[in-house]
Amino acid sequence: MSIGKAQLLQPIEMGAWNLRNRIVMAPMTRCFADRETGVVGLDVVEYYRTRAADGVGLIISEGITISPRAKGTIGLPGLYTEDQIKGWSKVTDAVHQAGGTIIAQLWHVGRLTHHEIAGGLPPQAPSAIQANGHVHRIGKPYDIPEEMSAADIEEVIQQYASAAHNASSAGFDGVEIHGAHGYLIDQFNSELSNHRQDQYGGDLRQRLTFMKEVTKAVIAEIGADRTIMRFSAFKDDARDYMWEDPDAAVRTFVEAFKESGLTMIHPSTMDYSQVVADGLTLHEIVRTYWDGSIIGVGNLNPELAEQAIHTGTIDAAAFGRPFLANPDLVSRVSQEKEFITFDASKHFDVLV
Ligand SMILES: Cc1cc2nc3c(=O)[nH]c(=O)nc-3n(C[C@H](O)[C@H](O)[C@H](O)COP(=O)(O)O)c2cc1C
Repeated sequence: MSIGKAQLLQPIEMGAWNLRNRIVMAPMTRCFADRETGVVGLDVVEYYRTRAADGVGLIISEGITISPRAKGTIGLPGLYTEDQIKGWSKVTDAVHQAGGTIIAQLWHVGRLTHHEIAGGLPPQAPSAIQANGHVHRIGKPYDIPEEMSAADIEEVIQQYASAAHNASSAGFDGVEIHGAHGYLIDQFNSELSNHRQDQYGGDLRQRLTFMKEVTKAVIAEIGADRTIMRFSAFKDDARDYMWEDPDAAVRTFVEAFKESGLTMIHPSTMDYSQVVADGLTLHEIVRTYWDGSIIGVGNLNPELAEQAIHTGTIDAAAFGRPFLANPDLVSRVSQEKEFITFDASKHFDVLV
């Protein structure tokens, strides 16, 4: 083993998991579930099994919807019916037989959808503000969403808890709550999409209330040692968005994470090295306030990941696109073989 990858390939205890190394497969939507039932099939089992058999430390699944209204495109899997749970059980069995650890990413897209996809109902969101852009695969503008009532909020929080419970029943080792990228939780978090006057709106601290309540409900179901939170500034419908004061925003997020009982977080950026404020990257700012576990991500390569672990900024490193192009990514890291470069035209719409 090269000294250069010594720490990346070291086992680590994170929460309830004994991970065999610090390489994480980032959550990636693949749209290969049955389009009517949201059940995953044997092709999806094989896709995850291959990465586990090659030795990845932790797999974070593609975003899995928590209800029919949580869906943002065609072919997304779910975790709210018995058949969906059975489908995922085959995935988790295969990953466990290969010595791996896999958690489910729980996803509600909020306003980033259309009634034709969200079970015939208008999208749910903190406020009735339409997102810019078009719905994936059907190409229609996003619908104007319905502002969620207090009862809707309570129901969706329960759906997160129930999906966490179902994740456990399906054999997942835990969950990641998708609080990033402009989807429902991030819509509550952001002033762009949350104009509420009640306790779920207001300044940033107040807007994080929904995220905190979801987190507490999920933790009550499966435990803080099996729950990761993903969050970001950028949004899939506002790629360049950055908080006005990144340092203050991160501090407020971290306070909310601590109040919710979280111990593991996954700050998301498309470019790990991007300086965000005061000469620091997003993950470096997070580290100044947070001493729990941090997963790094964003165009990482093994050298950068190793360095980030070495300096203590992150505890584990997630790779997204490289895992699509390199099912044998972990072997390549340990043998110091170059990665095959991700090419969307070759690697995006296939499941290998
Ligand atoms: C095809 C694809 C699908 C993605 N789907 C999700 C998703 O379901 N949930 C999520 O949080 N991030 C998703 N992402 C973002 C990745 O998890 C990751 O953060 C991003 O690709 C940056 O890492 P990379 O530079 O190593 O690819 C997706 C990225 C890609 C390329």
